[in-house]
Amino acid sequence: MSDTLLSVEDLWVRFPTRNGTVDAVRGISFSVGRERVGIVGESGSGKSMTGRSILRLIRSPGQMEAKSILFNGENLLDYSEKQMRKIRGHQISMVMQDPKFSLNPVHTVGKQICEALRLHTKASRREARQGALEMLEAVQIRNPERVFDSYPHELSGGMGQRVMIAMMLITDPKLLIADEPTSALDVTVQMKVLAIMDKLVQERGMG
Ligand SMILES: Nc1ncnc2c1ncn2[C@@H]1O[C@H](COP(=O)(O)OP(=O)(O)OP(=O)(O)O)[C@@H](O)[C@H]1O
Ligand SMILES: [Mg+2]
Repeated sequence: MSDTLLSVEDLWVRFPTRNGTVDAVRGISFSVGRERVGIVGESGSGKSMTGRSILRLIRSPGQMEAKSILFNGENLLDYSEKQMRKIRGHQISMVMQDPKFSLNPVHTVGKQICEALRLHTKASRREARQGALEMLEAVQIRNPERVFDSYPHELSGGMGQRVMIAMMLITDPKLLIADEPTSALDVTVQMKVLAIMDKLVQERGMG
């Protein structure tokens, strides 16, 4: 496929434990273009580890190994940590399973979304604020101005996930990794949040 965005070949994630090595991911291979691909598996089967591996975010003592992780034809395994920081959140974004661990409790939502944008673009403070408000509107937050000035603990679960999605999409990544971004929500809110994400991903032609 000529328009492959990401191609993972023979990915392994291992954890050394007292009782020997645990293979969390065993030789998975897949590729993704500008399309939606789902990875399904029971709890503990290695979905989150697979997502984190793409961004090289496996924490010690975990170890990740692969033949290659090609993104836009370049092998991310050859990248330095500095180069990876430019990829994360900019070229490839990841919505984590639990947004509570991804938002900083001591900063307002608006500040965090603006920072995500300003880290990767030359947006001025004003442009960043404008962009953040538009993005909050795009994820159908009813009162963007108010939410902009809120702290994470002042949001409901569904709002928190929408904020996370806004933060991950504002840099216009080529690839979005969503790790059960709605599993903490009740079913009707899940459907809504997934529909919003689906729409934005399609409109922007992301993988
Ligand atoms: N620090 C660790 N030490 C040993 N094993 C670990 C460690 N962290 C994760 N694992 C193992 O890695 C495996 C894969 O975990 P992962 O979080 O990827 O599962 P998952 O498919 O995302 O599950 P869920 O659906 O519950 O989110 C699990 O079996 C887990 O026990
Ligand atoms: Mg998981």
